[in-house]
Amino acid sequence: MFDTLQKMPADAILGLIAEHRDDPRPEKIDLGVGVYRNAAGETPVLDTVKKAERHLVETQTTKSYISTAGEPMFNAAMQAMTFAGAVADDRLVTIQTPGGSGSLRVAAGLLLRAKDAITVWVSEPTWANHVPLLGGAGLELKSYPYYDTQRHVIEIDAMLGTLRHAPKGDVVLLHPCCHNPSGLDPREDEWQAIIDVIVERELLPFVDFAYQGFARGVDEDNYVIRELAPRVPEMIVSNSCSKNFGLYRDRVGSLSHLCADTSTRDIVSSQVNSYVRTLYSLPPDHGAAVVSMILNDSEWRAEWLDEVEEMRGRLQRMRVLLSDALVEKAPDHDFSHLVRANGMFCFLGTTPEQVERLKSDFGIYLVNSSRINVAGITEDNVAYLSDSIAAVF
Ligand code: LMR
Repeated sequence: MFDTLQKMPADAILGLIAEHRDDPRPEKIDLGVGVYRNAAGETPVLDTVKKAERHLVETQTTKSYISTAGEPMFNAAMQAMTFAGAVADDRLVTIQTPGGSGSLRVAAGLLLRAKDAITVWVSEPTWANHVPLLGGAGLELKSYPYYDTQRHVIEIDAMLGTLRHAPKGDVVLLHPCCHNPSGLDPREDEWQAIIDVIVERELLPFVDFAYQGFARGVDEDNYVIRELAPRVPEMIVSNSCSKNFGLYRDRVGSLSHLCADTSTRDIVSSQVNSYVRTLYSLPPDHGAAVVSMILNDSEWRAEWLDEVEEMRGRLQRMRVLLSDALVEKAPDHDFSHLVRANGMFCFLGTTPEQVERLKSDFGIYLVNSSRINVAGITEDNVAYLSDSIAAVF
């Protein structure tokens, strides 16, 4: 049976983890996978997470099954953090999922239960796993222009122009903040224009919310959802707690459906739970229980918000650090977009050949598209990094 299968290439992003790990050069730098690192280059467990984990270990009395929808207090807290009261709760249903990817996959399956053929419009470019994940689930994908690789700006007119011709009922996938991979987010007036087109064309917004808190703040970053939700009958939001809680390997996420009315919400709720049962049966508990404890305790929540602010601040400082160094060392190139971007990512603007040279000659690992994770920059490595980048330009 299995001799019919062919070997798959390594994942474009995850493959870099092993390549960097196996590189013996001490000066190597990992700018690949989107994982936060502190000034020492480590990905620490957040203090609030450690505290909640300890509390969980001491107080949890059973490891029996939770439900297909997960922990109700987690779901309520995620829903509140995502929608901030923008629409009535009785039109919303939220479930706990194995990470943001699990959430995207359940959403895709549910869309295909609702309709046989569905087209999803994704930004060009988008997260490298969006297309395999959603396409692999059976959705048809088309792209709308998003990023001008020459000028390093959002192609807002081209994006709006494409979406204006999308057929009614098509789905449009949005990154509400910290666009992955470009880091460039539309301004508020541009978001309003995007929302207008979604409303006019009766498109179904599908929001992939993986970086809440990494652009302007946890409460500020749900701007798009707050603005969009009151204007549309239906909407999907996938959340990830990988980055803002640093719970990458614990796989914590949620999936919310905004429905036209309460009775449709009840039907969607029954469908989503039955779909989960056929897919992975039940979500993992540990990470979501930790998030639930933090979000539902005002003191711990406040401490966690400080931790998110610290991560956000460091990412911004590292962008400035690299951009300042490059202005000096590669003055012929424009790197101003580095500091205009939000969250973990931006494009360096190098060609795939230059990316390869950075890897082979300097031990610097980044995605082939030239996406870098700015969390990999430190005060100690920025001189070597900027010298290396200048050397390949
Ligand atoms: C990334 O884009 O690097 C992260 O979202 C991690 C992943 O799974 O690709």
